[in-house]
Amino acid sequence: MIIPSNEGREVSTIEDQALIDAATGARNCALATYSNFCVGAAIEADDGRVFTGCNVESAAYELTMCAERVTIWKALSEGARRFTRIAVVADTERLTPPCGACRQLVWEFCGDIPVILANLRGDTETLQMSELLPRPFDAKFLEEASTQG
Ligand code: THU
Repeated sequence: MIIPSNEGREVSTIEDQALIDAATGARNCALATYSNFCVGAAIEADDGRVFTGCNVESAAYELTMCAERVTIWKALSEGARRFTRIAVVADTERLTPPCGACRQLVWEFCGDIPVILANLRGDTETLQMSELLPRPFDAKFLEEASTQG
């Protein structure tokens, strides 16, 4: 079922809400020691499994890991290989999109899936990965580049 979101763009389905709820729960585990910016994510694998993650920050700031990447690593390391959608939840009025590094990895490991953004007030917006990362650098690009010499 398609429900217009209160940001005026696209979709939030009943199934999306379950994924948003999982991401919201994961956000409670965030270790945002330095930024205090807590993020949760949840990804659905094509076999129906849902994997969740939160951001984990290090005193060596650059070692910090975003919620999306924690989630993808968890899913891949449990054998999941194909994914249907990912939800990202933060407590921001403007919905929080994945950072550039996470866009690259979501694209590489999940392809052109819907990315459901949500906050704690019930606002949602769904974007396709191809909108978030147009003209990607990926395995297909490398393969085509190598055959072009
Ligand atoms: N962060 C995420 O976990 N996901 C995002 O989509 C944006 C940023 C985290 C990284 C860091 O722990 C904190 O938010 C502030 O950048």
